[in-house]
Amino acid sequence: MRKPVIAGNWKMNMTPEEGVVLVEGIWDLVSGQEQAEVVVCPPFVDIPAVSESIRTKSMEIGLGAQNMYWEETGAFTGEVSPSMLLKLNVTHVIIGHSERRQFFGESDQGVNRKVKSAIDHGIVPIMCVGESLKQREAGEMQDVVTSQVKCGLFELEERETDSIIIAYEPIWAIGTGVAATVTDAEEAISLVRKTVGDVLGTDAAEIIRILYGGSVKPENISEFISTDNVDGALVGGASLKPESFAGIVRFS
Ligand code: 13P
Repeated sequence: MRKPVIAGNWKMNMTPEEGVVLVEGIWDLVSGQEQAEVVVCPPFVDIPAVSESIRTKSMEIGLGAQNMYWEETGAFTGEVSPSMLLKLNVTHVIIGHSERRQFFGESDQGVNRKVKSAIDHGIVPIMCVGESLKQREAGEMQDVVTSQVKCGLFELEERETDSIIIAYEPIWAIGTGVAATVTDAEEAISLVRKTVGDVLGTDAAEIIRILYGGSVKPENISEFISTDNVDGALVGGASLKPESFAGIVRFS
């Protein structure tokens, strides 16, 4: 039985003060619920304050970063290392979000190095994959998604799969208000699961949690969750308000 995960990707929103108000507002509405694991992913500069708030109020909420570099220390201007994140009690890290691939030139190879480094440090990577509208219209969804999953998981071992989450986020559904249909999401996510099976074995495919992302809201989450293969959601816009994010957690 795979426990659903609802992760909020705040993207480049919220000051540290606003982030604390948001996480506390979320906790007020979700404390006591047990059906899903809840994770918030604030911008780097918010992490110390949000982490402190999670700790002092004993919130059962995972804390995710939105990116990290794979090296420990050194001359890598602008980057943040896994051990720096661990010091702030970070539990999860989004890796290879389509916005990082599109706007910051992240490659499949870089994603793979980050995934491995996160696992080595005991941080759960939420590895994102997904095709663009152009790729979907050209009939390339299967090839793109399979290749991103294979490259991202390259040289991982089967025993490492309980510490990785994959998020399928079709780029055309992100921030558009138009989510993928449940059929499209289920098709892509079952392909992700099959690919995990090809790379890491059938047990891994059974265990790994795969999320859907792209215009998820309280009104559509239950349809996604009710499918065989969707194990939760990576939520952007709707994670920025306690009511809508908690609504997604409760309906999951
Ligand atoms: P939206 O929920 O705003 O479509 O964003 C999805 C996303 O990119 C989460 O990582």
